[in-house]
Amino acid sequence: MKINIIPEKGVLDIFFQMVKGNIGLVLDESKLYLLEARLNPLAKKNGFNGYAELISNLIIRPLGELHWDAFEALLTNETMFFRDEYFFKGLTHFLLPELIKKNRLSKELNIWCTSVSTGQEVYSLAMILQDHFPELSNWNLQLKATDVCKTVLKKAEEGIFSESEIKRGLTPLQIHKHFTMVDGKAVEYKINDNLKQLIQFDQVNLIKDLPISMKYDLILMRNVLIYFSAETKIQVLSKISSNLKDSDSCLSLGASESLLYETCFDRFSVDRLTFYKKKQ
Ligand SMILES: C[S@@+](CC[C@H](N)C(=O)[O-])C[C@H]1O[C@@H](n2cnc3c(N)ncnc32)[C@H](O)[C@@H]1O
Repeated sequence: MKINIIPEKGVLDIFFQMVKGNIGLVLDESKLYLLEARLNPLAKKNGFNGYAELISNLIIRPLGELHWDAFEALLTNETMFFRDEYFFKGLTHFLLPELIKKNRLSKELNIWCTSVSTGQEVYSLAMILQDHFPELSNWNLQLKATDVCKTVLKKAEEGIFSESEIKRGLTPLQIHKHFTMVDGKAVEYKINDNLKQLIQFDQVNLIKDLPISMKYDLILMRNVLIYFSAETKIQVLSKISSNLKDSDSCLSLGASESLLYETCFDRFSVDRLTFYKKKQ
């Protein structure tokens, strides 16, 4: 018979604070199933008798690699190519044409995907730029892709996707044009170098001081704020606003995310596309 040992409430509270303070993720006792599913494999790998023992140990030792392994295990990295059809259509037919028109003299376009997970989001964006805007070929184009999680970033940077990943969101034509099949045990597809070369990958934790001083025309912060507390969201939004280049630069959030609280952003809608600009 399998007996699950549940961590004591006091221990859990300290661990939850630790997680929130380091990656922003808000947890409570209703998420015990998640702790068990995500942390038991890590506990076993490190010689602990289950996730409860691992957590009890983490709260008394100085912050180190094992903590970060645990934090990474708790992150949700769900993503897919062209996630949210309306966003990518709006990006192609409204937002990017507007930004390109505005920057036609400087011939410079800077875009930052702040929580890129395994890369599908930024590669979708790169495909749009190449397929729909050939005039950008002689522009200075900067695509920055960041995430707090080193494991997903490594995969994003490799740009190799399984057959099931590639089939989520891409048409056969897009696969044919932008990927090369990789020989190996399983069928895998590698993003072509001409797209990969456009992107710079980096580890950035949105809830810490941002190491990025660069200003962007467009910032994608999609499907990450949902994991933060209202207070953390406001802090992150306030910091990120200083990375927008000017009053025409845009911030995009996930389809289910909205700014219902007071922030430094105004909301705009064009058809079914929603985006935000810094309040004037
Ligand atoms: C659900 S995925 C969304 C991926 C992609 N943006 C999309 O919409 O498909 C959330 C991503 O946010 C990242 N994340 C969570 N907390 C973060 C933080 N504090 N700083 C940066 N990235 C974070 C996770 O590692 C994960 O890859």
